[in-house]
Amino acid sequence: MTDPAPLQTLTIRRPDDWHLHLRDGAMLKAVLPETARHFARAIVMPNLVPPVVTAAQAGGYHARITEALPEGMSFTPLMTLYLTEDTDPADLRHAYESGLVTAVKLYPAGATTNSASGVRDFDKVRAVLETMAEIGCPLCVHGEVTTHDVDIFDREAVFIETVLEPIRRATPGLKVTMEHITTSDAVAYVTGADGAIGATITTHHLMIDRNHILVGGIKPHYYCLPVAKRRTHMEALRRIAASGHPRVFLGTDSAPHLDHDKESACGCAGIFSATNTMACLAQVFEEEGALDKLEAFASLNGPAHYGLPPNEDRITLVRHAAPVRFPAKVATATGPVTVFDPGRPVYWSVA
Ligand code: NCD
Ligand code: ZN
Repeated sequence: MTDPAPLQTLTIRRPDDWHLHLRDGAMLKAVLPETARHFARAIVMPNLVPPVVTAAQAGGYHARITEALPEGMSFTPLMTLYLTEDTDPADLRHAYESGLVTAVKLYPAGATTNSASGVRDFDKVRAVLETMAEIGCPLCVHGEVTTHDVDIFDREAVFIETVLEPIRRATPGLKVTMEHITTSDAVAYVTGADGAIGATITTHHLMIDRNHILVGGIKPHYYCLPVAKRRTHMEALRRIAASGHPRVFLGTDSAPHLDHDKESACGCAGIFSATNTMACLAQVFEEEGALDKLEAFASLNGPAHYGLPPNEDRITLVRHAAPVRFPAKVATATGPVTVFDPGRPVYWSVA
């Protein structure tokens, strides 16, 4: 059956993904085309096992990504280094100034998947942060405390007050990307702060709240970190994204895990959304009456924050009369990965 004539189309500059997990090996090979199909560039997270800590490791990982890219696809991975208490400021300076690395990633130790090598004592990374401020290298932040006595739903708000604000005060000039923000507290902080700061928002945090995870049975494929919060927070994220605020842009945090690792008594955190992210975002921006702001969110604000030119080529999104069906899973050599289910009809696809 042929598709009925599209009701509406929307052409925007090709988007970038400012927070992405590509993994390695068989998983990398399976998920990379899902991103490269729509996105020109992505900030690639360094939380491999073992993590990407040095310039040499980032160079090796960059080569493996380039090699995994199918013939005919073009995609630029923007590499990151995983900040540890042993990160060498000279190695980082070399990695950044040579153009190999675009940013450094801060995981508080134990905050999320593969974050055991993260930072415990922030005094130990002072010299690195100062070097970064000097050379202009952005710090991407997983903004959650890991203190046992802080409730998981409060970990982002507490992080802002007890970690992020002190780091930014102590390191004037440090450019920060607060990644995958999930709360109205983070929206208020990022939009109100002085100095160089931006924030990414994931597709799924614009579409799900904590009820999606917990009501009617536990839904492991909606579990990610930071965990989705109550609905009012999701609404705050939708409002700021739909406003086109220049400090706020797309970072999908698309984070593939094999189904059997998610569907487990201790299911791991991460939602895989690379396949249908742009379609889902068009749906969200249409619902918000803000289709004219999708380009700012997905294609313009991110490059501006990172000091890069926006992409020159375009993609076209098409609105259909009937809901679009996306593949439920992506196959890898070691098992299937479930694609994000937005839980409601999506009428858009990428042409
Ligand atoms: C990410 C992963 O699986 O690597 N998981 C997630 O829930 N987002 C790690 C991260 O970005 O926190
Ligand atoms: Zn992530």
